[in-house]
Amino acid sequence: MKRLVKVLLQHQGAASLALFTREIWANPRAMGAAFPSAPALASHMAAQVPLDRDGWVVELGGGTGVVTAALLKHGVPPWKLVVVERSPTLASHLRQRFPQLRIIQGDAAQLGQLLDHPQFPLSSIVSSLPLRSLNPATTRAISHQFEILLQPGGLLIQFTYDLRGTRTRLLPRFRRLSSRIVWSNLPPARVDVFERE
Ligand SMILES: C[S@@+](CC[C@H](N)C(=O)[O-])C[C@H]1O[C@@H](n2cnc3c(N)ncnc32)[C@H](O)[C@@H]1O
Repeated sequence: MKRLVKVLLQHQGAASLALFTREIWANPRAMGAAFPSAPALASHMAAQVPLDRDGWVVELGGGTGVVTAALLKHGVPPWKLVVVERSPTLASHLRQRFPQLRIIQGDAAQLGQLLDHPQFPLSSIVSSLPLRSLNPATTRAISHQFEILLQPGGLLIQFTYDLRGTRTRLLPRFRRLSSRIVWSNLPPARVDVFERE
């Protein structure tokens, strides 16, 4: 555990960790995590995004930007990447950290409206949203957005601390393509890749 905290400090910096901790105090259910994702989890999430597809990549729940940075490092072009974050403080942090990206402050339950256009073509959604700790109506609204915004073949990449896997009944129109546990995260997390049917 000490080693993982050291890795997080090296990777994120003390200021980002302090910001994340303040947000947990203010909004524990919306944050749904005690720590930002470790580099191994962020890079595994990012590696699931195919780079050879048309369409936008939308990251949900950007937080302090650990997955955002991994997506850029993986090779997602900045003009194709849109980040949505509900917390105004974290959204403003993300804008400062990634001035080259479109960062939208808002609720993923209204994703279609936030993206301006109902037919906004998305190739992948990369979600760190804490679907298990958000209230059930919000989670249902978010999974409905996944369904209407992803075309058949579109990918949803979601992590969860439920090591048995994301409850697929929330995503009836998706099939799971792959699933892997990243043990070197605090706590260990499972990354599921779903395809819109
Ligand atoms: C578990 S944290 C993940 C942060 C970061 N991606 C990481 O991996 O370290 C969840 C993030 O989702 C954001 N969030 C929670 N509910 C949201 C919603 N309905 N719409 C958009 N963002 C939301 C929280 O503010 C928080 O930044």
